[in-house]
Amino acid sequence: MTAVSVRVPAKVNLQLGVGPIRDDGYHDLVNVFHAVSLFDEVTAGDAPSLEVSVQAAPYSRVDVGGVPVDGGNLAAKAAGLVAARLGVEPRVAIRIRKAIPVAGGMAGGSADAAAALVACARLWDDRDNPALTRDDLVELGAELGSDVPFAVLGGTAVGVGRGERLTPALTRGTFHWVFATADGGLSTPAVYAECDRIRAAQGEAAAQPVVSEALMTALATGDAKGLGAALANDLQAAALSLRPSLGRVLDAGLDLGAAGALVSGSGPTCAFLAETEEDAGELAEALDGTGVARQILRAQGPVPGAAVV
Ligand code: C5P
Repeated sequence: MTAVSVRVPAKVNLQLGVGPIRDDGYHDLVNVFHAVSLFDEVTAGDAPSLEVSVQAAPYSRVDVGGVPVDGGNLAAKAAGLVAARLGVEPRVAIRIRKAIPVAGGMAGGSADAAAALVACARLWDDRDNPALTRDDLVELGAELGSDVPFAVLGGTAVGVGRGERLTPALTRGTFHWVFATADGGLSTPAVYAECDRIRAAQGEAAAQPVVSEALMTALATGDAKGLGAALANDLQAAALSLRPSLGRVLDAGLDLGAAGALVSGSGPTCAFLAETEEDAGELAEALDGTGVARQILRAQGPVPGAAVV
């Protein structure tokens, strides 16, 4: 085999509960991940040495300007990890086609790393007697970043610890989403730091987060209205503090009848939940008309994680 392509989804955090900062600089999280049908495609092909190239996917308006095209790309690090584990040289060209917003709070970089893990394992491992299982790839993913294991698995899952220790969540049916992207990204460490700063300024000690029962019930019963009401993101105030214009985006979606709205992860993408597919179509069109966002995207979830195409 000389090339393998893997499709990998974006995520939105249905609940992002942020606990106190730990000694290692990370925060203890309760992170309910939900994979949505907005996909990057990563192709790993035989090459004389490790190369990375990045392009916007066909028909996508993603700005790929800020994405590293050297060993600093998380997908290249993923290839290096798989090669080291299998005892081969990482002689591979990684070609990334992006539809997930860059630095948008939808874990696009983590998704590309997860896709590269799966693609390189397929390229180099023995298919009849594989040395690496999907669980091994999930474990390798945790070395690359807190959100990488989830991008390997997909679906809907509760992450604890840094967010990397995952338990699948019970869901019913399909949820319909509208995403509003923004010009320019937000740095995840900067948003966490702003969250700490706001808490310190308010004299507020962060409690250990707990999973929302209302959210889990809404997921298990396919109750979009209940899910919309239970969406919660402890990083939202920090993202709004760094990018106040996001407040107008969230308000616009709620005024137009979204069942729920929140900043996705560390932002700046805003996520809106609709009650039905038809509502999502109407909401997307109306939001587009307001001009508050760079681009309006529709997606549904949950969808599976990184998979060979
Ligand atoms: O794990 P990852 O490299 O994706 O994390 C990016 C940054 O997000 C970390 O450097 C840290 O600033 C912040 N983070 C955190 N607590 C977590 C996960 C991420 O503070 N649980």
